[in-house]
Amino acid sequence: MSVAAKDVRPVAVDWACVRKDFPILARKVHGKPLIYLDSANTAQKPRQVIEAVDAFYREHNANVSRAVHQLSEEATALYEGARDKLAVFLGASHRDEIVLTSGTTMATNLVAYSYLLPRLKPGDAVLVTAMEHHADIVPWQLICKLTGAHLKVAPITEAGELIVEKFIEALTPEVKFAGVVHVSNVLGTINPVKELARECRKRGIPLLVDGSQSAPHLPLNVKAIGCDFYVVTGHKMCGPTGTGALWARREILESMPPFFGGGEMIRTVTFDGTTFADSPHKFEAGTPNTAGFAGLGVAIDYLTRIGMENIAAREHALLEYATPRLEAVPGLRIIGRAANKAAVISFLIDGMHAHDLATLLDQEGVAVRSGHHCAHPLMQFYGVTGTCRASLAFYNTEAEIDAFVAALGRVRKLLQ
Ligand code: ALA
Repeated sequence: MSVAAKDVRPVAVDWACVRKDFPILARKVHGKPLIYLDSANTAQKPRQVIEAVDAFYREHNANVSRAVHQLSEEATALYEGARDKLAVFLGASHRDEIVLTSGTTMATNLVAYSYLLPRLKPGDAVLVTAMEHHADIVPWQLICKLTGAHLKVAPITEAGELIVEKFIEALTPEVKFAGVVHVSNVLGTINPVKELARECRKRGIPLLVDGSQSAPHLPLNVKAIGCDFYVVTGHKMCGPTGTGALWARREILESMPPFFGGGEMIRTVTFDGTTFADSPHKFEAGTPNTAGFAGLGVAIDYLTRIGMENIAAREHALLEYATPRLEAVPGLRIIGRAANKAAVISFLIDGMHAHDLATLLDQEGVAVRSGHHCAHPLMQFYGVTGTCRASLAFYNTEAEIDAFVAALGRVRKLLQ
């Protein structure tokens, strides 16, 4: 990879060379060059990550923390190494603030059941926003049902921006927790999480920020944000599926009981009772996705070497390039016009169903996601059943955007 070291950023990155790290981007789909515009769904993986997973199984495969033999020590070092790297990447104070999970959904459910469930009572409320992914809605709904609490929803504008003053107004005494997506997977909106965290903190309301769509695209520092919980998923960060993390301060993690019971999360076990390992290990029962975390560690190194500032700037340039070209397509409407947005473009074309559009684009080699994007309430807000969504990453190119726009033109003619 031809990028300079991170301590001399910002640097001119050779993006064409970076792109060559992604083997899948050289393949064809239906005889056409693949144009992968679905990175918000899952990111593609550089060969360094693929090779790390391969090397794990070829050279290091063993279970973690359970044996004293060499392979087990190597596997444990790779697994714990991912924790170290996530801690630095997220700006945590200590590696023990990182709980390794299978992804954000698992991390959010851990917070819902271990932290929030024991604290909620009838009449309490959990505040979310109207742009949340189902993973930021359903876990809270499930525990509201168990406790007699309810959800409150902070509204957004037609442009897809959170109405911050309404969010603040909604932070009333019955609200005992708030959950907010950092970057909307549908709209691309970047929420002002620092401001939201400050307002929550003033009122003693813990805030969870879902970083699924921000961690791959923006420089992050959880302490500077000032939230209480931050969750990320590895597969959107160029890492393997089935990896992710919860960040929370040590005193919060220590106050939380284990969620899953099993091996590797205990100190002592008798038939009369169990004492538990310290956090974060008390939340990591069972054999983890060690090969995946070996890959995630390398993915974090990879992103860090390019530099998250560089990635954010490159993706912003691609968004600025793509937006007016898409707007010029007759009948095309972009949903999500926030002033501060990531490189996610949801759109519809008059008279065309999103799935038909995506199916025909696939025939052109263009991979976009269509449907509700796991955000039913947001679709209801816009009065649509679904959208088409092009989500860009630093490995995309202006030429791909041109080819995508040209493909849209051909598809429009077919459908009209
Ligand atoms: N995978 C989900 C998406 O595509 C979150 O937005």
